[in-house]
Amino acid sequence: MLKIMVTAPGRVNLIGEHTDYNQGLVMPMAIELAMKIEAVPRQDRRITASALPLNRQAAFDLEELAPVSGRPRWIDYIKGVCWALREAGYPVPGADLKIRSSIPIGSGLSSSAALEVGVAVALNALSGTELPLLETALLCQKAENQYVGVRCGIMDQMAVALGREGHALLIDCRSLEYSHIPFSPEGCRLLIVDSRVQRSLGASEYNRRREECEEALEQLAKITGRSFPSLREVKPEDLREAEGRLPELLFRRSRYVVEENRRVEDSARALRAGDYAAFGELMKGSHLGLRDLYQVSCAELDLIVETALAVPGVLGARMTGAGFGGCAIVLAKSSVLEEVQARIREAFQREGWREPLFYSTGAGAGVTVQRIQA
Ligand code: GLA
Repeated sequence: MLKIMVTAPGRVNLIGEHTDYNQGLVMPMAIELAMKIEAVPRQDRRITASALPLNRQAAFDLEELAPVSGRPRWIDYIKGVCWALREAGYPVPGADLKIRSSIPIGSGLSSSAALEVGVAVALNALSGTELPLLETALLCQKAENQYVGVRCGIMDQMAVALGREGHALLIDCRSLEYSHIPFSPEGCRLLIVDSRVQRSLGASEYNRRREECEEALEQLAKITGRSFPSLREVKPEDLREAEGRLPELLFRRSRYVVEENRRVEDSARALRAGDYAAFGELMKGSHLGLRDLYQVSCAELDLIVETALAVPGVLGARMTGAGFGGCAIVLAKSSVLEEVQARIREAFQREGWREPLFYSTGAGAGVTVQRIQA
């Protein structure tokens, strides 16, 4: 019998936050924590799934798939992938899925994108469908947008699908062109710090930011008499022209996005030149923009960043992902990782907050698949 084993990593975003849905630039990387999905075929039209990290089981009929209304459950991500594959005209076989994960669930490291991409790759391997990884990522985004009902951009699914060991992934979310940029700072590691703040505000605030960006575009067009398909086309001089007339909140949001795109370009240049110190500075700028202009950080993430940056040997730090909780990343000399963790732990203790969790990682590989003929 055919057995498929898929490994789908989580991701962190190195820089380029909240720019993907603004047709902008992002630079995530796959991490060394991953989801493992084992798939075997079934003769009927059912999918059964057991999620070992959650200790849950669920099953559904492939002929009865309807987009979610209300709060999504983990199985909805799998249903969404089956739905999106079928919508696109690809065969979806019945299968038994067994899922293990070293990616903490729901902490902003894209466990959901790993699940989507992993399941898509596993089902395609079972049915013999050869779907390029970029198309796979797009189908998974469609599943999340239209079936699960979360309006995410394309970054997470592309990072999971197309990450490469020792590399960051630079993505132009307007053209979907991407390239791999070496990311292996000598003697350094990336420390992921999970604030353990549940992103309860996340979904509603995330959608609100998207609406604010759309609103900013409309207003910018009225003010300047020119139309902008997205914030990607807005230049610093357009913003200067609109300053004072664009409502303050929308001005801040737009300014952040315009500046963040620029920081991604500068980061790509810095990393290509192996200048990690310059990249660290750009990480700091990104965090300040997210904190003060885009306003998606929170006290816990700010404290992690501030505490880490006070330790000599730390090159940069910032929140990563959607915000409102979840994780921050710290780029630091390996020799000071222990100290950074100790200081963050103490700072949290002083505040009376729950102890954060730490993972150190390099840039990991994107999704991989193994076919085992038993
Ligand atoms: C979440 C979304 C991504 C992206 C980030 C913010 O992770 O899934 O598409 O928008 O937030 O950069």
